[in-house]
Amino acid sequence: MTTVRELSYQTLEAVLKDGAYSNLKMNEVLQEHPLSPADRGLYTALVYGTLKRKLTLDFYLKPYVKTKIKGWVRRLLWMSLYQFVYMDKIPTHAIINEAVEIAKQRGGKQTGNTVNAILRQATTQPLRSIDSIKNKEEQLSIRYSLPTWIIRHWKTHFGLEKTEEIAAQMLLPAVQTVRVNRTKLTPDEAVAQLIEEGYRVQQDNDIAHCLIVEGTGVMQSQLFREGKISIQDKSSMFVAEMIDLQHGQRVLDCCSAPGGKSCHMAEILDGTGEILATDIHDHKIGLIQHNIDKLGLSGIQARQHDATAPYEGTFDRILVDAPCSGLGVLRHKPEIRYTMNQETVDQLVKIQLQILNNVAQNLKIGGELIYSTCTIEQMENENVIYTFLKAHPEFEFVTLQDPRTKEQVKTLQLLPQDFDADGFFITKIRRKDQ
Ligand SMILES: C[S@@+](CC[C@H](N)C(=O)[O-])C[C@H]1O[C@@H](n2cnc3c(N)ncnc32)[C@H](O)[C@@H]1O
Repeated sequence: MTTVRELSYQTLEAVLKDGAYSNLKMNEVLQEHPLSPADRGLYTALVYGTLKRKLTLDFYLKPYVKTKIKGWVRRLLWMSLYQFVYMDKIPTHAIINEAVEIAKQRGGKQTGNTVNAILRQATTQPLRSIDSIKNKEEQLSIRYSLPTWIIRHWKTHFGLEKTEEIAAQMLLPAVQTVRVNRTKLTPDEAVAQLIEEGYRVQQDNDIAHCLIVEGTGVMQSQLFREGKISIQDKSSMFVAEMIDLQHGQRVLDCCSAPGGKSCHMAEILDGTGEILATDIHDHKIGLIQHNIDKLGLSGIQARQHDATAPYEGTFDRILVDAPCSGLGVLRHKPEIRYTMNQETVDQLVKIQLQILNNVAQNLKIGGELIYSTCTIEQMENENVIYTFLKAHPEFEFVTLQDPRTKEQVKTLQLLPQDFDADGFFITKIRRKDQ
């Protein structure tokens, strides 16, 4: 039988070497290998922990790697060091033995010996001091395992103190929240049923249909399987809640896969009106349809369409939940910090503007468009919407109520520390009468 550490290690390889998405890969592995709650916990901690701390772990490892080692050996060493540095309950000999076993199986006795020697040294010497790194940006980069370009950007936008706060927040485990399918049950009923299933549940203070659920495997709950709840981060739920949807409206959700916000909107419209949910990727349309069917929603149609190409018809509401760098969701997808780069951000900005320029033509007079991203990069957020408005005087901001201060604002940048949730950007514009 495959051990939890082997499974964790294989998942790390899939993410760091083969480019798999951590959250999708982990769900897949957990579905294939029914683990005990304790083992699920260990598996999640090992994969997420190692991914989140990669740069820090490599800094700790460096002095002990004297010869050239293969990429897979290095990744195995990171996972082992993660357990040694950040998890108290695992005895050092168990960490080393399991790592040596995996190394021997994959690379033979010699590799096993190398791993053994490196880990023995690394676990008996004091850890290198991160404080000794003189350059502040580099120091933060190693401490919070974030590439320096991200530290630099955040520092420019938010200042040093807030950057450190955001960076620390991104290392915390994501809070598990679910959205209650209001077409099937009330939040109170959902709370009661989840408690009956053995979860600890709390209704959120800001969003009535958002529940905070403690306990492993909410995907295994009966409520989830019956389409009565969906897993969704609280910040992401703010988007549909802020659209000010009215029954009977015609809505376009142009970047909609896997359909989280489309389904949320369909739940609010409750079978009235019409939602067109499109995505550029054909293979993702099935995911949207799967969610529509599972949640038992009507009045929503999913189809492939490139949002930079013309649509037919006009809409009362348009949601552009744009493709973005995803730097707000590092708690859920920690590997993004290593795969994203400045050039990709620049390309994304172009696509975001192209999509806005295109779909804005399909907004009815007086209609409203919400632009949202799951990033905290100002270039993709404030910069995009102000650039769009400058070129389109026929549009104006519609203010939103900031859920933190209750003030009316034009743009809303949510940070992870605001609601112990993802970083998200939300703004709303209207096509004026003339
Ligand atoms: C942030 S995700 C959307 C998440 C979705 N709104 C939800 O709540 O589940 C962005 C989506 O935009 C899609 N996308 C990227 N470029 C696109 C384009 N040119 N036209 C339409 N969709 C696009 C991606 O495939 C991706 O599914």
